[in-house]
Amino acid sequence: MRLAVLLSGRGSNFEAIHNAIERGELHAEIVCVITNRPDAPGYQCARKWGYDSYVIDHRQFATREAHEAEVLRVLDQARPDYIALAGYMRLLTRSFVERYRNRILNIHPSLLPSFPGVDAQAQAIAHGVKISGCTVHLVDENLDAGPILVQRAVEVRDDDTAESLAARILVEEHKAYVEALRKLS
Ligand code: GRF
Repeated sequence: MRLAVLLSGRGSNFEAIHNAIERGELHAEIVCVITNRPDAPGYQCARKWGYDSYVIDHRQFATREAHEAEVLRVLDQARPDYIALAGYMRLLTRSFVERYRNRILNIHPSLLPSFPGVDAQAQAIAHGVKISGCTVHLVDENLDAGPILVQRAVEVRDDDTAESLAARILVEEHKAYVEALRKLS
């Protein structure tokens, strides 16, 4: 399975995927890593680990379409079977989704369809739910929608803050992403 990773930040989900491959728990090859943020820690890891890594900074492009065209050019060259969005903080256009239909995965820190969008963990706390978790799903044209591949539940404690809940969900995210990719491979 040829895998492309798109990220914008910390990159801990990317690291979990990398580690699973290294340990032989996931039969995949990361064929490129793309970030829209030159300062993304995940991008530094990608370089350190020797992956083909690209900064495609959206601020250097006049339109969303122009930025995506460059991302697609790099992706098309890398010929991935699947694209893993791992904390990639950009909305994809319809034509991007169509080009890689059913081959783009995303991870979200809630049990979708509850709490899509930003600050999902804070939304869960504010709503007072007792169970939250994470979801790996295929990407369609809508935000945090598309067929669900894997979910893992996390108990919300009475004294949880958004931060403490996010930390426990993140542990499950790392397992969920690898599990979803293993299913597909
Ligand atoms: C994760 O919480 C993920 O669910 C969300 O963005 C965060 C990315 O974290 N989409 P990381 O960069 O993988 O550490």
